[in-house]
Amino acid sequence: MSIRPVALPRSAFAQTVRVPGDKSLSHRALIFAAMASGKSQVIGGGPGADVASTRRVLTHLGVEYDGITIRSKGVDRWQSPEAPLDCGNSGTTLRLLAGALAARPFRSTLVGDASLMVRPMRRLVDPLEALGARVRLGHGGRPPVEVGARGPLRGADVEIPIASAQVRSAFELAALQAEDAASIHGPTGYRDHTERWLTAWGLGERTDDGRYRVLPGNVPAWKYDVPGDPSSAAFLWTLAAARRDAVVTTPEVSLNPGRIGFLQVLEMFGAEISAEVTSMILGDPIGSVTVRGRGLFHAEVDGELAVAALDELPLVAVLGALGEGVTRVRGAAELRAKESDRIAATVDMIRALGGGAERLDDGFVVLGTGFLEPGVVETQGDHRIAMAAAVAAIGVDGEVAIDGAEVAGISWPGFYEQVMALWS
Ligand code: S3P
Repeated sequence: MSIRPVALPRSAFAQTVRVPGDKSLSHRALIFAAMASGKSQVIGGGPGADVASTRRVLTHLGVEYDGITIRSKGVDRWQSPEAPLDCGNSGTTLRLLAGALAARPFRSTLVGDASLMVRPMRRLVDPLEALGARVRLGHGGRPPVEVGARGPLRGADVEIPIASAQVRSAFELAALQAEDAASIHGPTGYRDHTERWLTAWGLGERTDDGRYRVLPGNVPAWKYDVPGDPSSAAFLWTLAAARRDAVVTTPEVSLNPGRIGFLQVLEMFGAEISAEVTSMILGDPIGSVTVRGRGLFHAEVDGELAVAALDELPLVAVLGALGEGVTRVRGAAELRAKESDRIAATVDMIRALGGGAERLDDGFVVLGTGFLEPGVVETQGDHRIAMAAAVAAIGVDGEVAIDGAEVAGISWPGFYEQVMALWS
């Protein structure tokens, strides 16, 4: 484990930065390319270890890669894996592939690193079993996750209690392989990438009563141009928002409504935002975002907004501490089930830097003092905490030391260098 000191200049900056390819979309492009029969291409896929995990697992199912080109015989011809499939740190890899593999006539076992092995998987069981799949979990509803089907899956109409894109996508990837149509309904605010893509291919539709209905069929081979990751761009947006008159533009990032709640939060804090849709990938918007720092107040985040800003909530805490007034995040109990207990890790981070923060059952409260102090932040193995701690250095007169800084490579290798380059 490496301790990395981060100290940031006091001046403003103005930069345009192309951030790495979107992680959520890269996983989906790779999995759909593997489910299709023929040659697909994934251009600009995310460079992090999580996306590499999806690629590696698919190799064990018989999918072939040559750079950006993927060749598959189609999901019907996936090979039975010889050993447990190691999804590394990536919950998206494990949950989405558990769905796709639940329809296969062989048994697959999915495992991961120490963090993934304690994440909750019970949420997958009811939706997949409703389709007729067999799902077995390890102790306490954790991985290993064992899935497979004795015969063809059937249609079903399911209801889920949490706004989880991963659970919905797992269900949808299984349902695509069923004998009849299946539908899912649950709380909104989630990233609906999978559903937009299925709709664009005629393999699904949103119904009048708010359900998403999957129409079974074959996914086409495709050429995917993956846009930039707004969850990565969010670190740069935060740096700009926290420094008066700093400005950053991130062209071509995903603007899926389930991804950009954080822009609304930045506006509440007082930042100047402009976001413009410039293109689409399979019905899913892509565009350019500019953030300019105008001073910081506070924000209240709850409900659907908490879901649509989910991965960015550690940054909301940083902005809250550097702002004025009290910032409150509620409706985010799901944060406890991320790569770390992210409510605890976020509050610990702010406190380690001399700020005032308290945990709530479903979020946190942060007191805005306008500055933080030098200190050591434990990343708790969580890439988003490591990167949020580096961003917090914008409000520190001195250094933030990040213990376990290398974990940023899960989503963004080269992150720290890019942060420093803002002032070059
Ligand atoms: C993801 C969905 C979210 C998000 C995760 C990626 C996805 O999880 O936190 O980083 O790509 O589907 P849930 O929707 O399951 O909470």
